[in-house]
Amino acid sequence: MAKEPIRVLVTGAAGQIGYALVPMIARGVMFGPDQPVVLHMLDIEPAAEALNGVKMELVDAAFPLLKGVVATTDVVEACTDVNVAVMVGGFPRKEGMERKDVMSKNVSIYKSQASALEKHAAANCKVLVVANPANTNALILKEFAPSIPKENITCLTRLDHNRALGQISERLSVHVSEVKNVIIWGNHSSTQYPDVNHATIKTPAGEKPVRELVGNDEWLNGEFITTVQQRGAAIIKARKFSSALSAASAACDHIRDWVLGTPEGTWVSMGVYSDGSYNVPAGLIYSFPVTCKNGEWSIVQDLPIDELSRKKMDATAQELAEEKALAYSCLS
Ligand SMILES: NC(=O)c1ccc[n+]([C@@H]2O[C@H](COP(=O)([O-])OP(=O)(O)OC[C@H]3O[C@@H](n4cnc5c(N)ncnc54)[C@H](O)[C@@H]3O)[C@@H](O)[C@H]2O)c1
Repeated sequence: MAKEPIRVLVTGAAGQIGYALVPMIARGVMFGPDQPVVLHMLDIEPAAEALNGVKMELVDAAFPLLKGVVATTDVVEACTDVNVAVMVGGFPRKEGMERKDVMSKNVSIYKSQASALEKHAAANCKVLVVANPANTNALILKEFAPSIPKENITCLTRLDHNRALGQISERLSVHVSEVKNVIIWGNHSSTQYPDVNHATIKTPAGEKPVRELVGNDEWLNGEFITTVQQRGAAIIKARKFSSALSAASAACDHIRDWVLGTPEGTWVSMGVYSDGSYNVPAGLIYSFPVTCKNGEWSIVQDLPIDELSRKKMDATAQELAEEKALAYSCLS
């Protein structure tokens, strides 16, 4: 029997990431090749015509799995009955704007979209926030949608995770699928900590630690970290636009692994509500290593943390605490 379609909301769907993401979802990249979907696309009034153009292209692409498209500027219509919400829409930082002004715009967007999701989404809707500041937008969404379980609200750090896998794969000239268990700790910002202390490479002689195979701690503790942290800026410099296809692909990876599960022995990075694991203050949305099973994530526990890691994990937590305070100051 054919499966019931999953309703997927993409906000900011007329934007760059949206344009890369919706065809991936319609092709089965997010939920698999036998799972029908209905796309709900939301954007704001100035982008309504462009949004309609995206809808026309989705029709023209004749995707077998795509069972319907809702394209709207009405947040209630967009959120109604959605099972998964990918929040890409937000207010970008423009030249000359203060951090507080950008935060304030996004706080008000995420506050109102939280209420719409809470009232109109399907029960147990899973939420992924992509728009920056991703961790703090997700935190605001959680605060203003108290009836959505906090475990259902996450933010995207999978792009950073995938970037770390990519850098190790290039360095060792191995295929990226042979590299696993890197970790992104903390904020999706330049304070994030890409950690390879537990990462391994699949070799004909079994799994080997990345540190051993790279054999260059200076590179791993220096250039590797800054390359991953600054990769977004490097893409903007090269493309004159921010990363879109890799962000869309990472959003699909995030939801797919969350819904369908992570492979045995493999973890991924997700921004989730901290429960105090690894002495990360509770009450922040912080990126941790997680495994997923039966639609639920759990933080990988008891990894040994060295002194350098501790410092970097604390620094990114500190930045998130400051962002949280700034976001709250915008509410009053
Ligand atoms: N977490 C990550 O890894 C990651 C990676 C890349 C980009 N991003 C962030 O993702 C966001 C989107 O990036 P993009 O390149 O697609 O930007 P974009 O400017 O091309 O698209 C954003 C879209 O959001 C829409 N929008 C604005 N306010 C909205 C609202 N209130 N409701 C619905 N839609 C709204 C805009 O009209 C626009 O179409 C940005 O915040 C960017 O910084 C995050």
